[in-house]
Amino acid sequence: MELLARARELEAQGRSIVHMEVGEPDFTTPEPIIEAGRQALADGRTHYTPAMGLPVLRQAIARHYQQRYGVDIDPGRVVVTPGASGALQLLMSVLINPGDGVLLADPGYPCNRNFVHLVGGEPQSLEVGADTGYQLSAALIEQNWQDNTRAVMVASPSNPTGTMLSREELLDIYQVVQQHAGFLIVDEIYQGLIYGAEGHTALEIDDDLFVINSFSKYYGMTGWRLGWLVAPSDKIDLIDRLAQNIFLAAPTPAQHAALAAFSDQTIEILEQRREIFRQRRDYLKPALEDLGFRISVKPHGAFYLYADCSQHTNDSAAFAHDLLEQMGVAVTPGMDFGENAPERYLRFAYTTDMQQLQEGVRRIRQFVAG
Ligand SMILES: Cc1ncc(COP(=O)(O)O)c(C=O)c1O
Repeated sequence: MELLARARELEAQGRSIVHMEVGEPDFTTPEPIIEAGRQALADGRTHYTPAMGLPVLRQAIARHYQQRYGVDIDPGRVVVTPGASGALQLLMSVLINPGDGVLLADPGYPCNRNFVHLVGGEPQSLEVGADTGYQLSAALIEQNWQDNTRAVMVASPSNPTGTMLSREELLDIYQVVQQHAGFLIVDEIYQGLIYGAEGHTALEIDDDLFVINSFSKYYGMTGWRLGWLVAPSDKIDLIDRLAQNIFLAAPTPAQHAALAAFSDQTIEILEQRREIFRQRRDYLKPALEDLGFRISVKPHGAFYLYADCSQHTNDSAAFAHDLLEQMGVAVTPGMDFGENAPERYLRFAYTTDMQQLQEGVRRIRQFVAG
């Protein structure tokens, strides 16, 4: 965020900046969704919805799981939230008591640790590397389960690495968590943004786990603040009561707009965008490797490459700072994602167009050439 602010500041001073730090799609929300939002406002849909969300939207989300993944979900298990962030906050509040531990991958999405802290829990970060595809594994979870551990959180595809857990890996993780009578939380916010791999959902495994998702990334709706979670039936009442207290309900116009997110017309637009992201990944990964950055596990999803930059520096934060100041290229240093050798990593986001990516690569080439 600091880097983004500095990049914007330099831009305001007239500098040309290539943005490879931004964690949201560069595309605006698809027109059918915007139109549905406009219509909702024109119709005066400006009041609260039920805390769990509009019933028609909960049904649409359940139908989406049936159509895309062949999984039957009771719409009563779908909770509409203000972004995945709202879902994460809600879940932590429901599942974690002060002193409870939550196992997390390092590197991982930085806010997760803070959500655990927020409810007085203890983030139990585990270092992950190329050997497990930068993901937690059943073995790692088994070895590191502690007396106070209550939950495990994974993200597939992951931020910052873009790597995925296979069905089998997820099933193994689920079984270990079950053996310990813990909770498994699977963040599927980058679901849909998958290239050359088969998509799946943890909901295929069992009802007894928690899935987080959002309209932010695949659906291109970051600013509308809308996400959802699917929870086991026996937790819904508690989640409902907490949601009523914490945020009352997700934004009403956004919920009406999202009803258009699953239409054929919208999906066609989103699939075209997915193809563009795939082309960008397929350009950027070899281009960075060519410059000496190492990406040892091919990322199949999201819009990030997490690259080992140790050939060029032993201080990725200083590298990112200098790259921005000298060449006008903004990237995110590893320290944003944890304490697992952050000085060796940079996250490159391909949330900007091909021309900009090529320009970024040209500038980085010049920078590393000294
Ligand atoms: C892994 C992951 N989870 C959750 C979020 C929160 O997203 P939102 O609240 O916009 O749905 C993000 C945002 O970058 C993310 O990368």
